[in-house]
Amino acid sequence: MMKEIRPSITSQDIVCAETPPPPNAMVIFGASGDLVHRKLLSSLLQIYLRGLLPEQFYILGCGRTEFSDEQFRQNAGQTIKATLGDKELKQAESFIQKLYYISGDYSEPLFYRNIRNRLVELDKTHNVDGVHIFYLAVPPFIYGTIVEQLGQAALSCPHQIELRQKVRLVVEKPFGRDLQSAVELNNKIRRCFDEPQIYRIDHYLGKETVQNILMFRFANSIFEPVWNRDYIDHIQITIAESIGVEHRGSFYDKTGALRDIFQNHMLGMLSLAAMEPPVSFEAEQIRDEKVKLLRSIRPFEPELLDKFVIRGQYQAGSVNGREAASYRSEPGVNPDSKTETFIAAKLFIDNWRWKDVPFYLRTGKRLSDKITEVAITFKKIPHSMFASVGLDDTASNVLVLQIQPQEGISLSFQAKRPGSKICMSTLNMKFSYSDVFGTEPPDAYQRLLLDCMAGDQMLFTRQDDIEISWKLMEPILRAWENSNALPYEYPAGSESFPQANLLIESDDRKWRKLSGT
Ligand code: BG6
Repeated sequence: MMKEIRPSITSQDIVCAETPPPPNAMVIFGASGDLVHRKLLSSLLQIYLRGLLPEQFYILGCGRTEFSDEQFRQNAGQTIKATLGDKELKQAESFIQKLYYISGDYSEPLFYRNIRNRLVELDKTHNVDGVHIFYLAVPPFIYGTIVEQLGQAALSCPHQIELRQKVRLVVEKPFGRDLQSAVELNNKIRRCFDEPQIYRIDHYLGKETVQNILMFRFANSIFEPVWNRDYIDHIQITIAESIGVEHRGSFYDKTGALRDIFQNHMLGMLSLAAMEPPVSFEAEQIRDEKVKLLRSIRPFEPELLDKFVIRGQYQAGSVNGREAASYRSEPGVNPDSKTETFIAAKLFIDNWRWKDVPFYLRTGKRLSDKITEVAITFKKIPHSMFASVGLDDTASNVLVLQIQPQEGISLSFQAKRPGSKICMSTLNMKFSYSDVFGTEPPDAYQRLLLDCMAGDQMLFTRQDDIEISWKLMEPILRAWENSNALPYEYPAGSESFPQANLLIESDDRKWRKLSGT
């Protein structure tokens, strides 16, 4: 039986004050979409409400749909104000006055000339000195066109050192759909923008608790000495979602769990959890270590793939007591789709620290619970002195870095329970972000937007990182492409399914439970 105890934690504020980044303009392509309003503009509004947007700031929305500035403000305002209280509503009005809009055809040079003229005018009005952040919130197939046109209109400035530092490009995932397309996209972008100008977003890296992996590992002295093959039995990384594909069926059907989550969010968390200590807390040092770790992952062998990677697809079922349709009957999904909505994988990292330690990774949609965590299971004690009194199988210590839904850290250990001499229990020591800091961590997008405005690339993915992670995915993508086999089926609302269980159980280990962990 697992009991819970709460630690007393001293929260010591070290350099917590955050100041607004320098003046800048955010130029958003694809700005007429509702998603941009709900996600991007809402995050910018939250930053504004936190007092972290610079005074000299404006947003220029660019899109195909014709809107005046006023119409754009009204539409955006309706969505972004929906969740605000009275006091915030007032402040939101002054934020909305910073919104402007321009429409045109993404492939027409005239559109970009107009954008350039508008930027000159708005820079003057808002006292912004040419710091322009171009944000691509459009479907990936348009990325190339926009980037080329920005280059031709002399808006990207890769060769003018002074201007180059001011102009940035933000690219949303998915960044390519395999190695070749990612290299092609990188090449296209690199013809117009230099690497220090490019901010490739993986929103997982903006999550406070994902960043906390770095603090936890490298700002404490007691964990690093045991963070290796001598003490760790295995590591499990889970990104489980209870939602299905929702309104994104046609996108997801061409994407699948491998491209949507595994290649980016999952490998990103893995690299932070397993990388070597960077020399300093600087973007390139951290990115170098991430890439070094990715390079050490043992490539998947096509002949042995079935023993290392299992894919599944959800069937009809019930999630949290509500009926859920099968993946194939979701809107926009091909009724014969072979697309995977679940992946379980085992991988090894061939370096001195991790040799022979298995990493078990799983992600899936329409599972019983939403949980994102990194769980480190330590080796069992080498000899139990309690065996003689019948307690020979003591549970392993497990350290869990919980990313979602309750951000925190827990450590389980064995301790004496009141009662007879040989009463022992597994206790769970828990630290919860919201309990200790009295607030939920800010949304990942806010962090990433602020960092981009400040010109800090630490939490953005570098070109070599993207290409190495796609290279690792190649054998899996090709094997699935060339196979007629279908993904295994699992009912919506389940935790797993037999083949995914076998992947770990054949090593005498078990997946952690999704519920009640
Ligand atoms: C996105 C994926 O990148 O991450 C979605 O495209 C997924 O399919 C989402 O639902 C999960 O993000 P979060 O922050 O809710 O864990």
